[in-house]
Amino acid sequence: MPSMAQGGLRKSTENHNQLNRNFPNHDSFSRKQKIAQHRKSLPIASVEKRLVDEVRKNDILIIVGETGSGKTTQLPQFLFNAGFCREGKTIGITQPRRVAAVTVAKRVAEECGVQLGQRVGYSIRFEDTTSGSTRIKYMTDGLLLREALLDPYLSRYSVIIVDEAHERTVHTDVLLGLLKDVQKARSKTFNGHLNSESKTTDGTMLDKDNGAAAISFLKQSQGGKFPPLKLVIMSASLDARGFSEYFGGAKAVHIQGRQFPVDIFYTHHAEPDYLDATLITIFQIHLEEGPGDILVFLTGQEEIESVERLIKERLQRLPEGSQKLLTVPIFSALPSEKQMRAFAPAPTGFRKVILATNIAETSITIPGIRYVIDPGFVKARSYDPLKGMESLIIVPTSKAQALQRSGRAGREGPGKCFRLYPEGEFEKLEDSTKPEIKRCNLSNVILQLKALGVDDILGFDFMEKPSRASIVKSLEQLYLLGALTDECKLSNPVGQQMARLPLDPVYSKALILASQFNCLEEMLITVALLSVESIFYTPREKFEEARTAMKCFSSPEGDHLTLINVYRASDEFLEKRTMGLNKEKSEKILRKWCKENFINSRSLRHARDIHSQIRGHVEQMGLCIASCGDDMLPFRRCLAASFFINAALKQPEGTYRALASGQVVQIHPSSVLFQAKPECIIFNELVQTNHKYIRNITRIDYLWLSELAPQSNLMVTGSFVWQWLFNLVQPLVSGCCLMAMYNDSMRSFLSRHL
Ligand code: CDP
Ligand code: MG
Repeated sequence: MPSMAQGGLRKSTENHNQLNRNFPNHDSFSRKQKIAQHRKSLPIASVEKRLVDEVRKNDILIIVGETGSGKTTQLPQFLFNAGFCREGKTIGITQPRRVAAVTVAKRVAEECGVQLGQRVGYSIRFEDTTSGSTRIKYMTDGLLLREALLDPYLSRYSVIIVDEAHERTVHTDVLLGLLKDVQKARSKTFNGHLNSESKTTDGTMLDKDNGAAAISFLKQSQGGKFPPLKLVIMSASLDARGFSEYFGGAKAVHIQGRQFPVDIFYTHHAEPDYLDATLITIFQIHLEEGPGDILVFLTGQEEIESVERLIKERLQRLPEGSQKLLTVPIFSALPSEKQMRAFAPAPTGFRKVILATNIAETSITIPGIRYVIDPGFVKARSYDPLKGMESLIIVPTSKAQALQRSGRAGREGPGKCFRLYPEGEFEKLEDSTKPEIKRCNLSNVILQLKALGVDDILGFDFMEKPSRASIVKSLEQLYLLGALTDECKLSNPVGQQMARLPLDPVYSKALILASQFNCLEEMLITVALLSVESIFYTPREKFEEARTAMKCFSSPEGDHLTLINVYRASDEFLEKRTMGLNKEKSEKILRKWCKENFINSRSLRHARDIHSQIRGHVEQMGLCIASCGDDMLPFRRCLAASFFINAALKQPEGTYRALASGQVVQIHPSSVLFQAKPECIIFNELVQTNHKYIRNITRIDYLWLSELAPQSNLMVTGSFVWQWLFNLVQPLVSGCCLMAMYNDSMRSFLSRHL
């Protein structure tokens, strides 16, 4: 067992975090001492002075260090203590994941001995805990991008730390390009020579061309003098070369980590059912191995919840003495107080098994882990630019991910990692994960860049350029939605309004249209419910009961109306049953109602939150908020007008053909239209497992499409002849050839801008 002097943390409850507990006064002193001791023991502690010096000396610094070495929690505190927040400036730290922003901010607030929202706070989409006195602000990378819309110089920040840069989320990649420009522009304003050479803070000359590029997108903002911006890029991947090259040879500092040996075990054969293999392995470890918590990597909420249930079932069959196993889920959609449970120690004598998504790979470090189970899969975004279809698919991890996962077992002492695939498979894995920008729909990002005044998307300084085909497809989509003018500028007011809403462009457009169809109340509910994980809870053992409960809400018109029925029923219930009760009691009663109706109360609560926030946005925008009451026809017409890009027609054999892409898809069994199979539908989501399933579907009238969405005629594959031709030549066409297939209007729009 490593001693504290060696830096390893002993596996004892003393060293766990107990963040969500209220400590009586006599405990809080010793807790403070323990935290101080823990901070001193982190690898980063010994290089505090050096790191602060390097940030002073370099405008851009890259810091590379093992997960758990203290980068995320400590560096902002070092910089704060070194005076980087003078004159009311803030240190901003971006995270790719909401959970990381929340848990880390809470931890750092506690380490600093301040209340969350004071000196330390976090801000994520639909949740902001910061105040005027916040100086260390954790946020998602997407949120900082949105802030740039309102404050293009990011003037409140003295330092921006882009954390977990190795994850290469699409927002991180765009942010890196943007920050490069903001930094140059701020240097220029500071030196007061907008049209001449200027110096960076370390005295080197900034060339004119770079500065000009930077200023071009900032030219619309008011002038002003801003102190230079420091950039720190932090990464857990040991290869800093890519970042360093991108930032013109920026300096990289490596923090020596502490990693104990981890024994890796593989299966003899490929596992046909990795969830079952996971369960068997959990119980093998629990019954046969020494103390230590288990971390299991699963692909998403559904998988996590199903494994959690199965563990509980199997535990009951074990003899009483062996039942001391506590399951704790952690994934992004989990409310934050529940997320904190992963960090709290298990009760004495219990072993904790944490069921996590790949969030626990590098974003968060959970103490106490000695065993890792890695089935070898991850849920990833995938985008087909030719079809314009984005989907979530479960794919094998990369080698880099597998190594990060196993590393989690060796943080505090020697550990074991069980990879649930044969050893030969490891060699076949990709070395590292493809950056997200290469496999996602770019409409959202392009809309934001356009709103920032970046007109030349192809010329934007991306670390890795997205394919021409996906830029073309996203421009086409934005044009069809009316967000771009023929000149490829953001349209006014539609494009401008869409850019202001923190939603996928398709949903933003749906809200704007709904105000014209007098059904914005209904669309707000729909968009809120589509923004959370499934609202229905269908436990396997009570499948029939859950189905019957769902029928009470289901609408023959489809899933969107069904969602509205659930929301309205919950509103009615709250109105009738919780009058005069305090918040806590009302929530308790609502939870009970949810349980009786097989509704996921967590998702419903989250949706209600999102609903009130988006309502605030659309009120501010001055949209007309009206309800269509019980006549849902205008609402369905509005759905057709909004989601025409995802319209599909029934095929003779009962499958559907998506009109825009020509793809053959099937209705997901969870849809209320699974049996009814109407002739023409619109859908919101494509999920690819063994089949291409569509979810969230509503019946529409085919004729509405040409009436309400005439722009759908601009789509390349508007007719079946086109679809047939398109499918035939699709493997041969590249982004450029694709141009030849657009109809005249779309072709002239695109050719003017590419
Ligand atoms: O960013 P990096 O992976 O280098 O490390 P970190 O997130 O700053 O974590 C440093 C230490 O703080 C780890 O040993 C974690 O166990 C601990 N930590 C914690 O106990 N609770 C949190 N919510 C976050 C970090
Ligand atoms: Mg970190």
